[in-house]
Amino acid sequence: MSVLDRLANAEREHSRFVYVIAAIAALNGLLFGFDVGVISGALLYINESFALSPFLEGVVTSSVLVGAMIGAATGGTLADRFGRRRLTLGGAVVFFVGSFGMALSPTLAWLIGWRVVEGVAVGVASIVGPLLISETAPSDIRGALGFFQQLMITVGILLAYLINYVFAPEFLGIIGWRWMLWFGAVPAAVLALGTYYLPESPRWLIEHDRIDEARTVLSCIRDADDVDEEIEDIREVSEIEEKGDLSDLLEPWVRPALIAGVGLAVIQQVSGINTIIYYAPTILNNIGFGNIASLVGTIGVGIVNVLLTVVAILLVDRVGRRPLLLVGTGGMTVMLGILGLGFFLPGLSGVVGYVTLASMILYVAFYAISLGPVFWLLISEIYPLRIRGTAEGVASVCNWGANFVVALAFLPLINRLGEGPSFWLLGGFCLLAFVFIYSRVPETMGRSLEDIEADLRENAMMGPDSGSVESPAGERSD
Ligand code: BGC
Repeated sequence: MSVLDRLANAEREHSRFVYVIAAIAALNGLLFGFDVGVISGALLYINESFALSPFLEGVVTSSVLVGAMIGAATGGTLADRFGRRRLTLGGAVVFFVGSFGMALSPTLAWLIGWRVVEGVAVGVASIVGPLLISETAPSDIRGALGFFQQLMITVGILLAYLINYVFAPEFLGIIGWRWMLWFGAVPAAVLALGTYYLPESPRWLIEHDRIDEARTVLSCIRDADDVDEEIEDIREVSEIEEKGDLSDLLEPWVRPALIAGVGLAVIQQVSGINTIIYYAPTILNNIGFGNIASLVGTIGVGIVNVLLTVVAILLVDRVGRRPLLLVGTGGMTVMLGILGLGFFLPGLSGVVGYVTLASMILYVAFYAISLGPVFWLLISEIYPLRIRGTAEGVASVCNWGANFVVALAFLPLINRLGEGPSFWLLGGFCLLAFVFIYSRVPETMGRSLEDIEADLRENAMMGPDSGSVESPAGERSD
């Protein structure tokens, strides 16, 4: 049954409140996406207020990622301590204040400082949104609702691109970048207000011995008959989960999953997606498009990113994770090859310019059906239960870390190597990603999380050359 069929069936069976919770929680993804997308257009104009070298452009872009690493590293612990709901509210408030801070920055140093603060909220949002969704969604639609977060990331990026266009000085005659960065306060305010309707996660309440409150929440989102059973289940599971910590990640039987998760985290970023998400207008500008044409082209990139994420949602439970990842990284490699080639040909502003734009859009399309959503899905599936939270946190921090390195290095790299070779280098990484996925990433479609964990244990007993992670199509050796 496809994700959509399951959602349609589930809508009849589950309370609508489940969807309200997922929609509000996924606004965390929207903040994440908005912040990632808005800097692309703002950069064109920040450059006019403060003279930026390519290195400083990288610092302005990537400062948010330093904060995001801090937010992702501490988000899990903070969520356990203060609760998912209060942390969501806290993150939204920091994002709100940070948006004003960035917009009013008198100097470059202030701008960079506020971007770090905003980044902490983004990192927290990347952890707490999926956590809230997975802890309140009924198990049969957990995966589908989990995709909400990635969908909202892409919607946030598109919203940012539209805002960049609306607030472009050529359009309204104002100092555009300040308004662009300020606008983040609007979705942050919506999320903060939304938390009023958000219940605390039943799992967190149970772990804090607030059983009556947990029962009240569960009775709003489950059938009355299932409530007590679920309270018991959560109690049992949380007892098992307490045993896991960071050192457990290094146990030999967990290693293949760790390598797959961390590998995918790094691959998602070194595939170069954010060089396009952050620098699309700058690249289009260099190709010869004017400021406004560059911003419009970038909106096209944003729309394709949203639409193909929807396609991924439709396909992921039909064709599986590995085929999507392999087709996606293969396509990205080819598109980066063409994109790079464009910079060697004369007449970039003519036909070649449009071919370059088309290859950029297709590259994003291949990303959106593969590495974008499937990475976040897989890291919620491949780890053993008792270390799942910690391992997801590690993968997430590695993802933000790799994002940081790529954002900082990309413009100086272009300056040194030139655009063409830089995109070819990223294409080379996509090719390596293809090989890594082919040899290391397991298929998890249609398999319960318990089965995946049982395979890991079995493979460890049978030696390194056997099993689902080493023989990644997921066939059991028995
Ligand atoms: C990545 C982000 C990226 C976005 C693009 C997400 O899955 O983690 O770094 O900007 O996809 O859609």
